[in-house]
Amino acid sequence: MNQTNANAVGTWVDQILDQQKYNSPAAQASAYAPSNIALSKYWGKRETSFNLPVTGSLSISLAQHGTRTGLSVIDAPQHQVILNGVAIGASSCFAVKVCQWLDRVLPSDLKLRIDTYNTVPTAAGLASSASGFAALTLATNTLMGWQLPERQLSALARLGSGSASRSLWHGFAKWQVGELADGSDSIAFPLTQQWPQLRVGLLTISSQTKAVSSREGMARTIATSALYQQWPQQAQSNLATIEAAITDSDFQTMAATAEHNAMSMHATMAAAWPPLVYWQPESLIQMQKVWQLRQQGLPVYLTMDAGPNIKLLFEAQHQADVQAAFAEVQVISPFA
Ligand code: DP6
Repeated sequence: MNQTNANAVGTWVDQILDQQKYNSPAAQASAYAPSNIALSKYWGKRETSFNLPVTGSLSISLAQHGTRTGLSVIDAPQHQVILNGVAIGASSCFAVKVCQWLDRVLPSDLKLRIDTYNTVPTAAGLASSASGFAALTLATNTLMGWQLPERQLSALARLGSGSASRSLWHGFAKWQVGELADGSDSIAFPLTQQWPQLRVGLLTISSQTKAVSSREGMARTIATSALYQQWPQQAQSNLATIEAAITDSDFQTMAATAEHNAMSMHATMAAAWPPLVYWQPESLIQMQKVWQLRQQGLPVYLTMDAGPNIKLLFEAQHQADVQAAFAEVQVISPFA
């Protein structure tokens, strides 16, 4: 990030927090936020220091799969970051991002111990940055007594990681693209629609950390993939279709559009240079299995993020058939 943008973020954060930045903190606070899977994806930034997206996106949160973050004030020269009970080095990518975020929103002399527990089994290969930054935002809001409205919490979470803007709630959330330069209108909000029969199935292909982060992958795709030019238009159209299908509880349209959206996003990545292919051979085997099952009449669809793992979309009445076909699938009921 260049200095001008860093200053712009600092000014914007100061405006939001006003004098609240200097509130006396409570001794400790904690919060939980669910992880989320985008049905219509965020892939590409129009501005990087505020994580402003090229398009809107829409997600479903994963209920009890997420992050619990505890904060306590410490008397130390630096923040201490603990991940799943283990202290992690200040130079690790996760700690750097967390400390950067805290230093933007707290007075420079306030140092914290950050205890982050991912309730998503790490082996499930789910992105934890979304739930991690959402939980960190909520816990900081409590610790500092900010009492910020949700729209500002969503924007603050976005500064940590774009997809975190959608992780403050259970159920469906829509992140609107916004048009203001400071991103104050690029915020997510929950949709009121419930879909108790909806199920998300996690198929873990690999739990290893990906070689290319989403952040780097998006930047490379925008810079080098000619196919990216058609992405914004398709993403906006998919988002509208999925939102309408949720309103109508039209599973087939919602899930088919989500799968098409994910496959199209991966096509833009494959056309980047050097090519960006997050799939493993096993991912393709499982994808083909999904398509075969569908041909045989089972309404099951898939979506994938920037990694090799597959998330299945289906409804409760087909859960037994999906579990029979995928012995290892981990089933989540987002509205339970
Ligand atoms: C493929 O939110 O992790 O999961 O804003 O750079 O932190 P940064 O990226 P991140 O990207 C998520 C990309 C995605 C699609 C999505 O969740 O919408």
